[in-house]
Amino acid sequence: MSGVFLTIEGTEGVGKSTSIGFLRSFLEQAGYSVIVTREPGGTQLGERIREWILSSRAGSLSATTEVLLMYAARAHHIEQVILPALNAGKWVICDRFADATTAYQGAGRRADQELLQSLNKAVLQDLTPDLTLLLDAPLDIGFGRIRHREKDHFEQEGREFFEKVRAEYHAIAAREPDRVEVIDAAQTPEDVQDSLRSALRRFIARHKH
Ligand code: TMP
Repeated sequence: MSGVFLTIEGTEGVGKSTSIGFLRSFLEQAGYSVIVTREPGGTQLGERIREWILSSRAGSLSATTEVLLMYAARAHHIEQVILPALNAGKWVICDRFADATTAYQGAGRRADQELLQSLNKAVLQDLTPDLTLLLDAPLDIGFGRIRHREKDHFEQEGREFFEKVRAEYHAIAAREPDRVEVIDAAQTPEDVQDSLRSALRRFIARHKH
């Protein structure tokens, strides 16, 4: 496998989409071939699962159901999109991946840890992101940015849920500092871009050797 698997994570309203647009153009200008995809989603099946989950009332799906739906979408996405692109030498920028299940279903919804571990083993096999950029900001900043939009399945959850999600993201970053870079998303947009650019440059320099 010769491509690079880059995932972007963070709680709601931290500016993932803007950051992904920036990362894509930075990498393309540097001469890399890039695809941008997302989870849940990225394939027709995945997008239908996404639509189903996000339009369901908060609390209407059990933690186990949410986990299984996320992993059904993920298995298909890995087989159909991610691995073929990596095998073709591309950079794959994925808006959320397995860390989101660890944070949202594992910590937020208290899903069974053994179920998560066995699904990770069966579905991901050896696939781990080469680099994960965790956009992190105090919850109020993100909530402020999304307050005008209609709330989906997860956005209807209360503050306590998102505190658990954010704390789990911090725990993942602490456990895997070589893979996960925390980007301060509370900075000005220009400063966020500077941080993203530096993170990519460091990663590329490390992986040239
Ligand atoms: P977003 O990608 O537009 O932020 O929306 C996706 C939502 O789905 C977001 O609230 C996080 C949630 N999610 C999970 O709960 N578990 C997962 O495994 C993934 C990929 C997303």
